[in-house]
Amino acid sequence: MTAQSATLILFGATGDLARRMLFPSLYNLMGDGLLPDDFLIVASGRTKMDDEAFRADVDACLKKFIGTERYDGEAAAKLTSRIVYLPVETGNADQFAQIAARVADRVDRGIAVYLSTPPSLFAPTAISLAEAGLVTPTTRIAMEKPIGKDFASSVEVNDAIGKLVDENRIFRVDHYLGKETVQNLMALRFGNMLFEPLWNANAIDHVQITVGETVGLEGRVSYYDGVGALRDMVQNHILQILSIIAMEPPARFDATSVRDEKVKVLRSLRPMDGESVRTQSVRGQYTPGAVQGQIVTGYADELGKPSDTETFVALKAHIDNWRWHGVPFYLRTGKRMPSRQSEIMIQFKPVSHSIFSARGQASGLEPNALIIRLQPEENIRLLIMAKQPGLDRDGVKLSEVGLDVALDHAFAGERRRIAYERLLLDLLVGDPTLFVRRDEVEAQWQWIDSIIDGWKQSGMKAAPYASGNWGPSAAIALIERDGASWHD
Ligand code: BG6
Repeated sequence: MTAQSATLILFGATGDLARRMLFPSLYNLMGDGLLPDDFLIVASGRTKMDDEAFRADVDACLKKFIGTERYDGEAAAKLTSRIVYLPVETGNADQFAQIAARVADRVDRGIAVYLSTPPSLFAPTAISLAEAGLVTPTTRIAMEKPIGKDFASSVEVNDAIGKLVDENRIFRVDHYLGKETVQNLMALRFGNMLFEPLWNANAIDHVQITVGETVGLEGRVSYYDGVGALRDMVQNHILQILSIIAMEPPARFDATSVRDEKVKVLRSLRPMDGESVRTQSVRGQYTPGAVQGQIVTGYADELGKPSDTETFVALKAHIDNWRWHGVPFYLRTGKRMPSRQSEIMIQFKPVSHSIFSARGQASGLEPNALIIRLQPEENIRLLIMAKQPGLDRDGVKLSEVGLDVALDHAFAGERRRIAYERLLLDLLVGDPTLFVRRDEVEAQWQWIDSIIDGWKQSGMKAAPYASGNWGPSAAIALIERDGASWHD
């Protein structure tokens, strides 16, 4: 597959995401011959510098983030030679005119714009681009999350961009959708006959989705405080995972079919209120502690002042539709957890009748579980029951054993790609399947708003948890109250 658009205009080019992810991804795509020979990157940021200084900076980032094994000076020079840097201030028409002049002969072939800036700049930047003649019927615009901070503000952003660009050319980025492991959820569900007949309330007791991080604020104070884990992780990444786990089989693997099914799930999420948040949600904030042997400070110390922003959230969600009636989805995510661990557990129901509990002895029979580990390693583990070897004088004894697939072994030799490689390529080619459609983002916000409103109504505060733990003890109670427990 060769990229169609040969021009990428990147706003926020001096930012952290561009340095860590976007330029290394472009380096890899170029190395694999997936970018056109005349590919041009117009990099733009507020810092004033010339092409040479910016190229040197990108080269340093590549060395740092690609890793010395993969870094190749010649390949890096090939990429940086395709970059021009043009500083830009919001609303400065002359500077936008300079960008337009630089790409004038390329506009007809389609320009891809990537907004890796704070969301407040999405609309002003798009308007300035339009005024400079850079928004044409072939222009595509990608936007990093967050799209707004609630439903109302997401509508504002979507309206402003939607006035300039058609929905099918707006690419809302959720980098989890670019992860091979997240795409693999669809392969697992719809590429196998085994699971789908059992994938419903008849056979499934509950579902758990955990995204644990060991990191804390990482210097993102100004963005994170007041945002918190619910908006930062659940509104986007976790709800995208949930919608893929819960959706009906799409008729085809294309942007409309897949996103039509995902949005139905998001719209079926049961809203919460001041009453339900008390039993169905937990907010936490990390205090000093130790994570993987390292002493770390608390959130308020990192911030330099007290705050009620949650760095951990656990929820019991319900999807009000036929397939998932009565099946709770337990969701949790947090910073300063004991390990970086993202996984989904599908907990099946017990067998309807046990033939093994003869002579009043416990047989060890447990319900099956499917554990899909997304990161750091990619594993799929199906827990099944097996007979313990022996003469069974006191009845048959069963033990849980795992059917394990380690995907990095199964595909040894295949490079695991950065999520942004896939997303950048899809943007350039114009395939929006792995991007978030407007109705999805708005349905996500509607559910999140109901929780935030519930928290406000009930005055629910973030409970402290010592760094290096899986959140406050209320998070354990949230699931244990229902007779289940978090999978660790
Ligand atoms: C980002 C959040 O979207 O995802 C961060 O803003 C979080 O707070 C990050 O750390 C996690 O991404 P990953 O790919 O490291 O799991």
